[in-house]
Amino acid sequence: MLLLGIETSCDDTATAVVRDGRTVLADVSTNQDAFHAKFGGIVPEIASRQHLALLSAAVEDALERAEVSLPMLDGIAVTAGPGLVGSLVIGVASAKALAFASGKPLYAVNHLHGHLFAPFIETGVEPEYPFLALLVSGGHSQLVHVASPTDLRIVARTRDDAAGEAFDKTARLLGLPFPGGPEIDRLARTGDPKAIAFPRHRAEKGALDMSFSGIKTAVKYFLDTPEGNAAKTADVAASFQAAVVDVLIDRLDRATALAPYRAAVLSGGVAANSALQAAFLAWSERSGIPGHVPHRRFCTDNAAMIAAAADRQGAAALADARTLAANPNLPFAFAHVA
Ligand code: KG4
Ligand code: ZN
Repeated sequence: MLLLGIETSCDDTATAVVRDGRTVLADVSTNQDAFHAKFGGIVPEIASRQHLALLSAAVEDALERAEVSLPMLDGIAVTAGPGLVGSLVIGVASAKALAFASGKPLYAVNHLHGHLFAPFIETGVEPEYPFLALLVSGGHSQLVHVASPTDLRIVARTRDDAAGEAFDKTARLLGLPFPGGPEIDRLARTGDPKAIAFPRHRAEKGALDMSFSGIKTAVKYFLDTPEGNAAKTADVAASFQAAVVDVLIDRLDRATALAPYRAAVLSGGVAANSALQAAFLAWSERSGIPGHVPHRRFCTDNAAMIAAAADRQGAAALADARTLAANPNLPFAFAHVA
């Protein structure tokens, strides 16, 4: 299928044209970081206004770059939720209008399902089921059992902060600009990950839940000590990052001990982290479970992953162009919106 993807769940205004859920003919994204950076976080009202200003041009841009016109498409795929309601509404309204006007099928995609299929975009890798996904983003940290494109079950989640949120908040403590994840990643390369022993969340025997707020709080208290005051920021960044990575890899070990998997994937914005990628691939080697990581471009929010998920979910994701509503709290299990 040739699909136009639209993603506006947070602060990226993204469109893409994707063939068969794997070949990207166009990938357009306007990052709004410059508008939000001075507030130290995403301001929902600014995000929706920016989507409104940017989306029509982003749709035209994607079609032009892919050298296709609306009638040549097999459908339009849009993120229906979860996310910021004001942001989602802009993408959903636009997709509905395009689908209604062109008579093309409309596919409603769960944003998180999009992340799970990102490792199969432009990598030549096809999903083998069941696979285990470690989904780590600014809003979520979870392990997902993917039995098929439409049978997805969360098997573990964070008790508090998402991994990306912990990166962003810790970066703020270190005086780094927003979004802090990539900043910590960069800084950590010159730091010693063993310099400071930040606590790792220990789950009960056999449990898979994770927690990241304790690591962040430990960094905060450490920075207030004379030792913390004198510490090199790069060492703090590297040690914090190592603690987060350790917890995530431990949960992969635990989850794969509980059920058999044919593959594992790492996805979400934090999947772009170089230390996490290296640890994940080393874990894959050690465990003998093939591990797949998206191209860096498809780790963070993008529209190609929305088209990739819609393509694989097919009829289950079909939605009504007259009635589809954005749902900021879209349940995870949800694979159709009709
Ligand atoms: O998936 P995403 O683009 O948006 C959400 O759905 O949340 O993820 C954004 C998150 C942010 O918290 C950002 O700091 C984090 O991903 N991130 C990283 C890196 N690149 C992005 N965290 C650590 N290292 C990175 N290289
Ligand atoms: Zn995301």
